[in-house]
Amino acid sequence: PRNIFFSRHGESQYNVEGKIGGDSYLSPQGEKYAEALPKLVQDAVGDAPLTVWTSTLKRTAQTAAGLPYPKLAWKSLDELDAGVCDAMTYEEIEKYYPEDYASRDEDKFNYRYRGGESYRDVVVRLEPVIMELERQENILIIGHQAILRCLYAYFHGLAQEDLPYIKIPLHTVIQLTPKAYGCDEKRFQLPI
Ligand code: G3H
Repeated sequence: PRNIFFSRHGESQYNVEGKIGGDSYLSPQGEKYAEALPKLVQDAVGDAPLTVWTSTLKRTAQTAAGLPYPKLAWKSLDELDAGVCDAMTYEEIEKYYPEDYASRDEDKFNYRYRGGESYRDVVVRLEPVIMELERQENILIIGHQAILRCLYAYFHGLAQEDLPYIKIPLHTVIQLTPKAYGCDEKRFQLPI
């Protein structure tokens, strides 16, 4: 059976600073994850063919750099665009855009950042990615938290209102094996 693997990029410089969005490089911990990933993936995939999909952001390319498989970078896999809040911490957003902060809390799936996107927007832009995923064999996506939440919810049939709260931890590979109904799931966590 074919498998779909998801991993967030390794911890980034912005993750360390608590900032959202941006296009930062990996932190030293994130680099360790990138170094450990090839062995973990090889253990999970064996000799089966695999293609790696990344976003166009540096932190996903850097995480995928050591993986000895064909790679494809998708703009549609880039992180949810936080618009004017890009590069801010949640504390800064609450301070400078208190109303937005509250409306996002109210309806996180539909809230659209000023000049940016909502989770609903991301679900729409992921449609071509999902169609292609459905046609492919083994794919590993090195992605971003908001994006992987949408893909994970699609494959597990989770509700829209729960989707923005799904926990996709760092430094963990999630393996989904589609079945006639639903998906089996395994997780591989690296102690980094
Ligand atoms: O940087 C953005 C995060 O990946 C998504 O987090 O939608 O829970 O704010 P959030």
